[in-house]
Amino acid sequence: MRSPYKIIIIASLILLSFSLVFGVLSILSFLNIPVVAKWLPFQQARPVHVSSALFWIITAAVVGIMYYSEGNFPLSKKIANWKIAFAIIWLMGIVAIFISYFMGYFGGREYWEFPPQLNLLLLVAWLILLAGFYMDVIQKLKDKPVYIWMWFTGILFFFFTFSEQQLWQIPWFRNSFLKEMTVQWKSNGSMVGAWNQMVYGTAIYLMVKISGDESIGHSKKAYFSYFLGLTNLIFNWGHHIYNIPTATWIRDIAYGITMTEWILVLSIIQGFRNKLNERERLRHLLTYKLLIAAEFWVFLNLLLALLMSIPAINIYTHGTHITVAHAMGTTIGINSMILLASLTYMLQVDKRKSNRVDRYFRIGYWVTQSSLMVFWLSLIVAGILKGVKAVSSPTIAFADLMAPVYPMLRIFMYSGIFLLIGMTILAVLLLYSVQRMANSK
Ligand code: HEM
Repeated sequence: MRSPYKIIIIASLILLSFSLVFGVLSILSFLNIPVVAKWLPFQQARPVHVSSALFWIITAAVVGIMYYSEGNFPLSKKIANWKIAFAIIWLMGIVAIFISYFMGYFGGREYWEFPPQLNLLLLVAWLILLAGFYMDVIQKLKDKPVYIWMWFTGILFFFFTFSEQQLWQIPWFRNSFLKEMTVQWKSNGSMVGAWNQMVYGTAIYLMVKISGDESIGHSKKAYFSYFLGLTNLIFNWGHHIYNIPTATWIRDIAYGITMTEWILVLSIIQGFRNKLNERERLRHLLTYKLLIAAEFWVFLNLLLALLMSIPAINIYTHGTHITVAHAMGTTIGINSMILLASLTYMLQVDKRKSNRVDRYFRIGYWVTQSSLMVFWLSLIVAGILKGVKAVSSPTIAFADLMAPVYPMLRIFMYSGIFLLIGMTILAVLLLYSVQRMANSK
């Protein structure tokens, strides 16, 4: 593996660790634990946590896309210059963003709360990625499997939604609260759809390679899932703006199509699982286990999302920790598991693993899965307690509303610490594999 890939992989794992550490610091600060709250207020810890989580997902997805598209389609012998240019500018942007956070310069809007000028670096890097991927892969490759379309769609729509996210800088949007909120929530909602295309495309690629069954990438179900994902990407932001007075048809469409994509992803993974024989399963055990974990979390989050979308239940859940459970349940349980699977595959951890690596992997894996379950459930219970009280006693003081919620948030905090430990073990094993990887590719 050549150095630009290694550097991006290392950067993505550092971002993952940052996200975990600042997630724990955020909740310690929120619960007013003096030693943390005194020097790191929640409103500063949260943006660092959320930005590093989003950059971890996007960076790990992109490095996989660049590496796999090269490995499968030997269009150039040496690493293309656009990949190097992307890596340098993208990582420079991220470093500048964290420096500005640590120096106390905030700005921007939710999830991207840094001085907006820094977006220029991200935008330039992304345009390079878009042009490079289009010219090297999309244009030259005949008979493209579905994951190539998913990757390209994800990259293209990330560009659209990222640009849309910046519309608040135009006074016409900024001067109206409703316009600004609509465009913020809409663009953030669609952006999730964009990176899901990149991440789910990666999951399909891994299933094709592990099983050796190329038909998974050309199956009718996979293409149907792609088009459904695209429809979701274009329309499902409607469920992010339920609370804004908009045309009813927008809500109705969003409500109708939101869950469909996940059901298909679930059935593709299940089909792959049923087809895989024991030998292939064992040969890619670590990657396989992480993909199966993602399948499990797709199922649980699908259940939660279906319940949350029922209007009679949504009255209680809206604006509670259930929304946070939904956000973290999907970004950790689904996106991060698929991306960890992708990194183990890229770094050939299964081929090179020793008994010691295997043992630590098992520990990291099970600590992650079990603590994530407690973490997720504690947020849901906290949300139910808050939602029921808020609806039954609408005039209640905030302190009284939150009193029954705090014990649950403490459980959330402890499980978060275990999640930090479990995922850090996995991240360290991957960093160790980067170091061991011979310059073979
Ligand atoms: C890879 C791991 C993680 C990812 C990808 C992740 C992702 C996210 C995302 C996307 C949000 C925004 C949620 C929203 O706006 O509704 C968030 C918020 C948050 N996360 Fe995480 N998270 C991770 C790990 C953790 C850990 C280990 C903790 C520790 C307890 C934690 C604590 C928090 C807190 C306190 C918030 C703010 C919730 C609020 O504003 O009410 N996260 N996280």
